[in-house]
Amino acid sequence: MSADSKSFYLTTPIYYVNDAPHIGTAYTTVAGDVLTRWHRQRGESVWFLTGTDEHGQKVLSAAQSNGVAPQEWCDRLVEESWKPVWKDLNIANDDFIRTTEPRHMERVQRFLTGLKDAGYIYSGKYEGPYCIGCEEFKLPADLDEGRCKVHGTPVEILSEENWFFKLSAFVPQILQHYKDHPEACEPASARNEVVSFLESGVEDLSISRSTFDWGIPVPWDTKQVVYVWFDALLNYATAVGLGDEAGSDGAQKFLRTWPADVHLVGKDILRFHAVIWPAMLMAANLPLPKKVFAHGWLLVGGEKMSKSKANKIAPSEITDHFGVDAFRYYFLRAIPFGSDGSFSWEDMSARYTSELANDFGNLASRLIAMIEKYCDGLIPAVAYDETLSNALSLAASTADSAIVALDFQTGINAIIDFCKRVNGYVTEQQPWVLAKDPANVVELEKVLYNTADALRALAVLLHPIMPATTEILWESLGANETLGEISKQLIGDVGRWGQLPKGSKVTKGAVLFPRLEEKAE
Ligand code: MSP
Repeated sequence: MSADSKSFYLTTPIYYVNDAPHIGTAYTTVAGDVLTRWHRQRGESVWFLTGTDEHGQKVLSAAQSNGVAPQEWCDRLVEESWKPVWKDLNIANDDFIRTTEPRHMERVQRFLTGLKDAGYIYSGKYEGPYCIGCEEFKLPADLDEGRCKVHGTPVEILSEENWFFKLSAFVPQILQHYKDHPEACEPASARNEVVSFLESGVEDLSISRSTFDWGIPVPWDTKQVVYVWFDALLNYATAVGLGDEAGSDGAQKFLRTWPADVHLVGKDILRFHAVIWPAMLMAANLPLPKKVFAHGWLLVGGEKMSKSKANKIAPSEITDHFGVDAFRYYFLRAIPFGSDGSFSWEDMSARYTSELANDFGNLASRLIAMIEKYCDGLIPAVAYDETLSNALSLAASTADSAIVALDFQTGINAIIDFCKRVNGYVTEQQPWVLAKDPANVVELEKVLYNTADALRALAVLLHPIMPATTEILWESLGANETLGEISKQLIGDVGRWGQLPKGSKVTKGAVLFPRLEEKAE
């Protein structure tokens, strides 16, 4: 296999199906979608995986309290809730893995058998606190008066004969890995936290449970089921053919995708991904993911959203009012990825109006209206403006380097700054004044062309973030016929000025970002 045939492989966490998606889980998934769309528009081959985490006590108890068998509960939530919400949010994942699928369960069992044969699994007794909300064995520092610090709920005291994984044996190697590859765990604050956790001494991990049976049976001891996190982490590899026979489709897929380029996770699940997961892979002699990136939490009223706090906001509550693209845009634009951020209707309304409706939407509708009025609806002769063209090149390269480094906010800012620059150009040039005197026709057409080509570039750069709206603009500019599909436009080529050909027909499309008060009526 040649190195360039490796896909850019990005994963989201797989979500517990104890409940429907909320804006916190949608935040991770949208970020993954934007990043993978961006990489596709860099011309790379991409594989984007998301899915659901269906085993364990948390999901089992959600099913039980709804009086439904766990498999039926999971099927219902996945089909009626998770998949439709991702579709509504325009998420273009390549695969969706469910941990109750045979393809996953079989590969987990095979992996576990391999680890046992290699001497990394032994039987022992676990005694200690466990939080069902986190599905995690807790350390004294994780508790506050017997309650989990994340969920605020009391922990269970477990005492069981379990199978253990020799996690502690890998600690020196993992520490060395982060020394050699600091980029493997980001942002730096997350890496520091992981390193001090590793340095504080890590114990072996109980990887099976015997008190309930909603899980993958341990192959050599079917009275036990695999611990839900051990099962869940493996999804990233089982979904792309982990351990399949050499030469099979699965094995080839694995060669093309593994190791993952980015595991996107929320900061609450960092340790699983940056400590346990690398140890599991090391034990199986598999390459480690290139990066685990921990983003912050969306807070509502200063607190992380959770089922127990009943402060969850469904994505539709926001998209019904602002539209899907504004939702996709807002969180990545407003909150530095990696930091916590509070959601507020006021801030979202303000940005919607100033950045999306005024700076971007109005620019597009004014330009189309002026080309219709002054140029019979046809793109005028190709023109060039050095200042705009330089500003575009800078915006495109800043956005590209920021977004591939998962700094969405800086990337989007660069694009929006360019949009503001184009608005400034139109205000300075005053095409509506030029249009009053036929002697200015060349100058007028030049201004309109430059604005149109700038909008062509804005549509391409904003496409990964707002796919549907930019598609409407692309159609309006007549670019589908002349330049081809918007999703096929390359980021690396976006700065080449003058791509819109003379004579293409522009058409007035739907308003890109309708005024909010009209929508609320
Ligand atoms: N099932 C595990 C993940 C297994 S991955 C091998 C899990 N599921 S979860 O549904 O509880 O959370 C999934 C992701 O959503 C986590 O990355 C978590 O950080 C993220 N979020 C949940 N609430 C969130 C916010 N309020 N804000 C931002 N992200 C949030 O953990």
